Amino acid sequence: MQKMWQGRFSADSSELLEAFNASIEFDKELYRQDIAGSKAHATMLGNSGILDKEQSKEIIRGLDLVKEEIESGKFEFRTEDEDIHMSVEKRLSQIIGKELGGKLHTARSRNDQVALDFRLFCQDETKSIANLVLNLIQTLNNIAKSHKDTLMPGFTHLQHAQPVSLSYHMLAYAFMFKRDFERLLSSHARNNLCPLGSAALAGTPHNINRNEVAAALGFDGITQNAMDSVSDRDFALELLFNISLIFTHASRLCEELILWSSSEFKYINISDTFSTGSSIMPQKKNPDVAELIRGKTGRVYGNLMGLLTVMKGIPLAYNKDMQEDKEGVFDSVKAAKTSLVILSEMLKTTEFLEKNMLKACQSGHLSATDLADYLVREQNVPFREAHFITGRCVAMAESLGKDISELNLEELQSVDKDIKADALEVLKLVNSKEARKSLGGTSNQSVEIQLGQIEEFLQTHLK
Ligand code: ARG
Repeated sequence: MQKMWQGRFSADSSELLEAFNASIEFDKELYRQDIAGSKAHATMLGNSGILDKEQSKEIIRGLDLVKEEIESGKFEFRTEDEDIHMSVEKRLSQIIGKELGGKLHTARSRNDQVALDFRLFCQDETKSIANLVLNLIQTLNNIAKSHKDTLMPGFTHLQHAQPVSLSYHMLAYAFMFKRDFERLLSSHARNNLCPLGSAALAGTPHNINRNEVAAALGFDGITQNAMDSVSDRDFALELLFNISLIFTHASRLCEELILWSSSEFKYINISDTFSTGSSIMPQKKNPDVAELIRGKTGRVYGNLMGLLTVMKGIPLAYNKDMQEDKEGVFDSVKAAKTSLVILSEMLKTTEFLEKNMLKACQSGHLSATDLADYLVREQNVPFREAHFITGRCVAMAESLGKDISELNLEELQSVDKDIKADALEVLKLVNSKEARKSLGGTSNQSVEIQLGQIEEFLQTHLK
């Protein structure tokens, strides 16, 4: 079989080379972008007088037919055609004739073609993933709205720290995912430039109109340096990083869902629809969805590290190493899309066991800091001393088998006679939460502000 680049060769390729070199098996995923790019290019060639208008129209008609064949499953992808670019061009030539089909590649190289296709793919997927992140934030926000008065322990070092509301805890994740959303949008804006017309690496002597192609494909403008345009994959790396960070956040949330659904915590009940059973232990109900998301995070990080490493040592401009850019991105995109959907759906059907959360608050002396703050505020005691006195109260509570919030005045005064009756109020769990009215705090007043911020953000971005 004659290759498109056969001219200077006198021997046929080894079959080993053909299979090793080909990317068609995975880059066929880019057929939509490839055909859209070729149509925009052909239109521009016609408008610029490089091709006749009629020729340009005929090429476009042919490209539409190729697309139809691919979408109806009639198209035969063959290893010997190497990649999506040559597969489409070859079929086009069969449909409209070799003479005209061969003109489409005027003023273009596969180097700028693949840079365009892959960039279009990353831009599209950035938008889709951003929308899924938005849906997840909406789910978290809905949970937050209905759990302002649900008390739960806030943790540091996985030890009970201070009482917070479930609303507040969910909002923490909402804000993480809000930043992830904003990162996706800013990547999209930065990368929305068209590389086509860079040709192999140095531009082209043909009198092309790059801005026309860019506008036709929905870009905001064109990339500025052809060598950079065909040889960097930072747009794909940004997407891989953005997905990695989404997974960092999702994985932490999933880790908590796994802990919370254990019999040690019993804070939540993951619905049967999103739980799995054990093949041997009939009683088991496992949080596989959350575990899988936590697990996929490893692969997603690997894809980022993989492409960073591919790119780090290659000289300008295009090198075949760069064909290794796609599979990891396809994999991370798929992981992000499936995980974001199922995480949101699972959360919607998760039951929060408020009584158990409250019960958990009653151990671990969650309001101890409030007593120290009280001593500072009401008794003008230096914070370090207040910390020490409170520590003694905690030790006393421990010795009595009580929580600090359950000590009576007499017991408190046996540690420090200056402690007054109002300290008992301060030690109450709800009051501890409500005392934290600082901006960004867990009191309902502060949580309302945060809910308002997420609400406003959602309204701005949800269509
Ligand atoms: N399949 C190639 C890739 O994915 C397309 C670009 C090939 N360019 C070249 N000069 N061989 O990178």
